[in-house]
Amino acid sequence: MNSAQIATPKPSPIPNLSLKGRNTFGFEVCAELAYEITSAEQIPVVMQEVLRHQLPWRALGGGSNVILPKLLPGATLLMNIAGQEIISSDDSSVLIAVGGGVNWHEFVAWTLEQNLPGLENLALIPGTVGAAPIQNIGAYGVEIGDYIESVQAFDAHTQTFTTLTKEQCQFAYRDSYFKRNPHRFIVTKVTFRIPKQWKARIHYADLLKEFSGNSSPSPEEIFLAVCKIRTHKLPDPKVIGNAGSFFQNPIIPNEQFETLLHKYPELVSYPDAAGKRKLAAGWLIDQCGFKGQRMGNVGVYENQALVLVNHGNGTAQDILGLARCIQEKVHDEFGVKLEIEPNVF
Ligand code: EPU
Repeated sequence: MNSAQIATPKPSPIPNLSLKGRNTFGFEVCAELAYEITSAEQIPVVMQEVLRHQLPWRALGGGSNVILPKLLPGATLLMNIAGQEIISSDDSSVLIAVGGGVNWHEFVAWTLEQNLPGLENLALIPGTVGAAPIQNIGAYGVEIGDYIESVQAFDAHTQTFTTLTKEQCQFAYRDSYFKRNPHRFIVTKVTFRIPKQWKARIHYADLLKEFSGNSSPSPEEIFLAVCKIRTHKLPDPKVIGNAGSFFQNPIIPNEQFETLLHKYPELVSYPDAAGKRKLAAGWLIDQCGFKGQRMGNVGVYENQALVLVNHGNGTAQDILGLARCIQEKVHDEFGVKLEIEPNVF
């Protein structure tokens, strides 16, 4: 094999591949033509095939934020681009380039090993680095968008690679330019800027409680505390299928918030960056009595009402049926519309 072939191996599709192990809900899913993508150069080759045969297509990362149907027709690109390296460092920050297929949690752990703290609040979020900017993953007061320098992606509209700056990514709560332009970008590489000045962020209730006797925890201590909290609240997808938070925390106008608060003094909410109010969807669902409830093969997790689970043999249809039921009840009770968080294919 010559070096050109090594650099751009021609991808051949795997027909009728089961994706049961590649979606964290553990749904039985069959990809008609699956392509393992291990280098960015393979993407234009596959996308030319897609164009030539007018195939439907989609790219999949860790499968941790998706609701997949029984059959995925056409081409499914399984994004496995590896590699992470420090590309530059100055007095104030370090730039790290990371392949889109790298596991997010392993990357966070690696940054701490390199003595580059900052991402520890985002420990144990399932999925890949490439999927993380799309929904601007966030937890315990930190969002990935704060640390992104740029995102490299293949643009299916122009059939070329493009690099979007942090500003062009237009990050917002669980939102980005990528999410607002679905079916267009395939993320190949993410470049992070990690500031050298570090400050512990433990202002979220769960972390404050964890560090009640320790006002200056180390990044490693925060990392471990976040892992502990998440392990308790969120089911391990290897044991019970789920996609983390199933609904976004709804953002409502202040007026509506005041009215609701009057009626429900216990209402859990946070101020939103845009001056509106973000409600804890988990609280709303919990109040409607759904926590721990089961509907056939699917249900609501017993420790966190925001998480819907597959008890085994569940399907996308089952989970979307349960979601509709929850949306209707929450709307009837609180007049608030819950938006589904994972991508529905
Ligand atoms: N609550 C209940 N009952 C429940 C669940 C929650 O009453 O069953 C109330 C509690 O008062 C709790 C509050 O809701 O204090 C908020 O719950 P929690 O702290 O668990 O956070 P969340 O708002 O449910 C969000 C993110 C999580 C992230 C955590 C921590 C969204 C949609 N979810 O959850 O992200 O880990 O905050 O920052 O923004 C994810 O996106 O998959 C995810 C897990």
